[in-house]
Amino acid sequence: MQTTVTEHSAEKVREQVIQWRRYLHQHPELSFQEEKTSDFVYDTLHSFGNLLVTRPTKTSVMARLIGSQPGKCIALRADMDALPIQEENTFSYASQNPGVMHACGHDGHTAMLLGTAKVLSEMKDQIKGEIRFFFQHAEELFPGGASEMVAAGVMDGVDVVLGAHVLSTLEIGKIGITYGPMLAAPDVFKITVIGKGGHAAHPHQVPDSVAIAAQLVTNLQHIVSRNVDPLDSAVLSVTQLISGTTHNVIPGTAYLCGTVRTFTPELREKIPQRIEQIVKGITEAHEATYEFTYEKGYAALINDEKITKTIEASIIEIFGESAVEYFKPCMGGEDFSAYMEKAPGSYITLGAGNAAKGITNPHHHPRFDFDEAALDNGLKILLHSTLSLMNQ
Ligand code: NI
Repeated sequence: MQTTVTEHSAEKVREQVIQWRRYLHQHPELSFQEEKTSDFVYDTLHSFGNLLVTRPTKTSVMARLIGSQPGKCIALRADMDALPIQEENTFSYASQNPGVMHACGHDGHTAMLLGTAKVLSEMKDQIKGEIRFFFQHAEELFPGGASEMVAAGVMDGVDVVLGAHVLSTLEIGKIGITYGPMLAAPDVFKITVIGKGGHAAHPHQVPDSVAIAAQLVTNLQHIVSRNVDPLDSAVLSVTQLISGTTHNVIPGTAYLCGTVRTFTPELREKIPQRIEQIVKGITEAHEATYEFTYEKGYAALINDEKITKTIEASIIEIFGESAVEYFKPCMGGEDFSAYMEKAPGSYITLGAGNAAKGITNPHHHPRFDFDEAALDNGLKILLHSTLSLMNQ
């Protein structure tokens, strides 16, 4: 019955969702600057009726659908921002905004959630509890829009939160789910080695910041290989090393920065402590000093088992078992985790690549694209899962 309702509802908005997506694709806006995008979303949501539409922050939008019977509050989230990339696609709806492109599919997420909101708003009489729709700004740029929306109170009273991301590296028709840890907490470290500048012909006279920095790059690798349980996951990469100006000067300082990615709060606490111990020990040993800062990024994204199980059941009911892809956790990050710090939820991936149609470019590529059929699949899953969770 629910599957029939889902099919029927999806059918009604299918073309409209694609039109919305193409409009948004033509008019991309950067993180924290989603002014026209959020106006468009606000006006579109308003036109549906039955929704209480507000702006939690300057460029985000929230719509609330209050059901006619009591029940849970389920929140669905889409992100709306684009990237500073010059689009190289030549299709008719390519970006009209030079240097800005929807190269991650957030145009699709926004359109898909508008479609879901339209369908559900027309089912108000059957809704128990409340369904909230988050149209979030700034997923691509730290500190991210999710934490701002949470601070604005959007999660107050929410029992379950769901999100979905199209994925061009997953073939169309597949829906990815992950039980438990899915995406890591991406943190940033910055180190300045402070030696003393001098003549390259007299290395015995000054601490050499370059030689010390080289030791650090090597020794920091020991944290993951020697201090992390091999059955846990962590990444530590030095991604920037800047020092020196010419061949005959020992530079006074060397700057290193990089990323640390972890899943557990324990490792997230331990690794920066180990970094600083190593930096302190090596710089002291070589008669230099240091500055060290550690910036915490998004929290790790950990999916709730029970909610994920409900989504899996929806996928099987609509598309059959073969559509389920058990998506391997990866060390990327997502600010969706900010919502999950307030309520349990699940984040899924929607297969959106299509080798037969030549849709194979990775996300953030100037010719990124996705198969628009993924939006229809995603809408059905969101709709079906929401109704299942509502009736549990
Ligand atoms: Ni994205």
